[in-house]
Amino acid sequence: MKVDICKNYEEIAKKATSIVIQEIKNNPKLKIGLATGSSPLGLYENLIEAYQKNEVSFSEVTSYNLDEYIGISRSHPQSYYSFMFENLFKHIDIKSKNIHLPNNDLTQIDHIANDYNQILHANPLDLQILGIGSNGHIGFNEPGTPLDSETFIVTLDEQTRKDNSRFFKNLDDVPKYAITMGIKNIMDSKKIILIASGKEKAKAIHQMIKGKITNKFPASILQLHPDCTIILDIDSASQLA
Ligand code: F6R
Repeated sequence: MKVDICKNYEEIAKKATSIVIQEIKNNPKLKIGLATGSSPLGLYENLIEAYQKNEVSFSEVTSYNLDEYIGISRSHPQSYYSFMFENLFKHIDIKSKNIHLPNNDLTQIDHIANDYNQILHANPLDLQILGIGSNGHIGFNEPGTPLDSETFIVTLDEQTRKDNSRFFKNLDDVPKYAITMGIKNIMDSKKIILIASGKEKAKAIHQMIKGKITNKFPASILQLHPDCTIILDIDSASQLA
């Protein structure tokens, strides 16, 4: 695990952006796993800017999102589908056929996890972008998820629903279920970048990096990944010393 501590969120976003752009330059057909939430927003803004300045093209890149809520439609403003189009895809030249988000259609609930898993098996990821939940989740692999899990339908933790209620009118509106890549799918990516900022993440960051490897704290498994870079600001790194 490589840990980079930046002076602020802007620097985190800059560092993550330069890694992603370099990876695309090395391999224009990069298969990239993407996260939603607040953590990667600066990275996405910078990637849009770099594309607009002709510094990078996504025309051959394929993307695979980590997760999606179940119980709201893709057209809902808080679906991860909407999030990705609003915050990245509609601003860059990625081809729509190269964009993959887990299907959340309730009428297909019996096979959507398996379908997405097949896609991931057929397309091993070169790079995965991650955030971390305050309870140690990566993707929506909540505490207690087996460390060898593959894509599955998850009941969200109450903590996760509370954390994400800031994006909804109230807690009751936050979906109770989601579909997520499993921990094994994430660990299978050749390279991983995890982004975290702010004091609220300090305890989780400490546990991920210094704690014991356990499925009670899923992000701790990243200690075993051969090429994982954790990009932090001073606040999220504040309990590491
Ligand atoms: C999002 C995801 C989650 C978030 C995590 C942190 O696709 O899989 O694991 O990365 O909940 O969220 P933020 O960045 O909003 O603090």
